[in-house]
Amino acid sequence: MKLFVATHNAHKLREIGEILPGFEICADDPDVEENAPTFEGNALIKVRAIAARHAGAWSMADDSGLEVKALDGAPGVRSARYAGEPCSTPANNALLMRNLEGVADRAARFVCAVALVDPAGVEHVVRGECPGRIAREASGAGGFGYDPLFIPDGSAQTYADLGEVEKNKISHRARALAAVKSLIGA
Ligand code: IMP
Repeated sequence: MKLFVATHNAHKLREIGEILPGFEICADDPDVEENAPTFEGNALIKVRAIAARHAGAWSMADDSGLEVKALDGAPGVRSARYAGEPCSTPANNALLMRNLEGVADRAARFVCAVALVDPAGVEHVVRGECPGRIAREASGAGGFGYDPLFIPDGSAQTYADLGEVEKNKISHRARALAAVKSLIGA
């Protein structure tokens, strides 16, 4: 069975293929503006765009980001472009650290929403979360985005320190994909 995924991110496609081995994973570009106020809303915008082209198959899209409690949930759905456009990871991370200067409560969570359209055209949405906190300083060379700044609960290390294998056991995306696996029954 084919599963169309609204991304060309090779890392995401590989992770999805490992978790859902019964599917032939096919990339498709939704080419839409992600302007919803929630992760779920953006995932739905993307999956609807590709599902329209693949009636009778599974389609899937994800949307993720970092929510910081002391910043009222920012960067949130603006995680990729927190410091403005064009998107810059160093600028995003620097802004986050600046906005948390002197802040004691550094609680945060990564969120990943996944929206699916099944072969009958029915929509499904699942979510994975990874609670944690924002480090006092960046640590680790692995990963991407906010990885050097995020320490998941139960760990003394950042996502970037943990490396891909350990991160993928506990990450927001892994948890959302586990929910997808249960839903699809793969
Ligand atoms: P996307 O929706 O998965 O493309 O994620 C949007 C943005 O959220 C990314 O550009 C990153 O800034 C941030 N982000 C999402 N997942 C992660 C992660 O696992 N580590 C670090 N940053 C992430």
